[in-house]
Amino acid sequence: MVSRKALFDECMDILEQSGIDTARFDTMCIFQDMLSDQNPLFLPQEEVPEETEKRIRELTALRSQNRPLQYLLGQWEFYGYPMKVGEGVLIPRPDTETLVDQVLDICRENGLSSPKIADLCSGSGCIAIALKKQLPQAEVTAVEVSEAALDYLRENARLNEADIDIIAGDVLKKETQQKLSGMDLIVSNPPYLTAEEMRSLQTEVTYEPASALFGGEDGLGFYRAIIELWRRSLKKGGYMVFEFGDKQHEAVSSIFKRYSFDNIRLRKDGGGIIRTAAAVKTGDDFIRYSDSSEQSRKNTEE
Ligand SMILES: C[S@@+](CC[C@H](N)C(=O)[O-])C[C@H]1O[C@@H](n2cnc3c(N)ncnc32)[C@H](O)[C@@H]1O
Repeated sequence: MVSRKALFDECMDILEQSGIDTARFDTMCIFQDMLSDQNPLFLPQEEVPEETEKRIRELTALRSQNRPLQYLLGQWEFYGYPMKVGEGVLIPRPDTETLVDQVLDICRENGLSSPKIADLCSGSGCIAIALKKQLPQAEVTAVEVSEAALDYLRENARLNEADIDIIAGDVLKKETQQKLSGMDLIVSNPPYLTAEEMRSLQTEVTYEPASALFGGEDGLGFYRAIIELWRRSLKKGGYMVFEFGDKQHEAVSSIFKRYSFDNIRLRKDGGGIIRTAAAVKTGDDFIRYSDSSEQSRKNTEE
């Protein structure tokens, strides 16, 4: 049998040799998980049981081939809540916590303690579940089309005891939109990569479903479709809040303005990238044909 320390060093070395930048962190996560011990090197000479050693070696080998760590562990944290993940569902990203923060701030500023919220393209359910946990009186509905993702979404709602409604449906279809009305907030982190970005994905990201990533030729297909279609489900004065990719904020702001949304507020993520936008639905339901992105630039939040 091998000691924890010897096996740890060996596994970390394998990951380093394979070019994994986060070799130490990843090895630590694998050890913590496999040994059910938050501090696996506290007793470095402790022997690792044979079966556990075998499993650790298997996971290290898979990780060295760039398989996402989160899929190997089967669970990842989002906003402090555990989320089950695996192939077929997008891994929740820390950047997406910016969206949850912005929605919570909007609710606080507007005194909304029991808002009706729809989370479109819900994936693992991370946004919907975090919002329900933070706003227990809210009525939260998650909408998702992929059967594989829906399985994780249902499991995560159960795991976190989050009483949310789940709709299996295509957000691009009117029949799905018509299931929800009078919403205070519609939030979404839809697929937003461009065709060009899809061609140059990091190997690790290729393990995630393309249907969770690809947002059409220019990456903006879902923003156009969701704003056009789902504004009908929003109350007058209600908010739509999106996450998007680097440098997509001006285009998303323009689409908002085209559909008579006002008071666009942008927010940066922890890395300083403008990551989310919130906008208010005005009363009029006409489409504007001239817009400028000046106001949105002025309103960028830190
Ligand atoms: C970028 S992922 C976001 C997942 C999750 N909201 C998050 O932030 O981690 C986009 C999600 O949209 C789903 N999706 C793609 N097309 C859809 C559609 N037409 N209707 C509903 N969901 C869709 C994908 O299956 C995927 O789960």
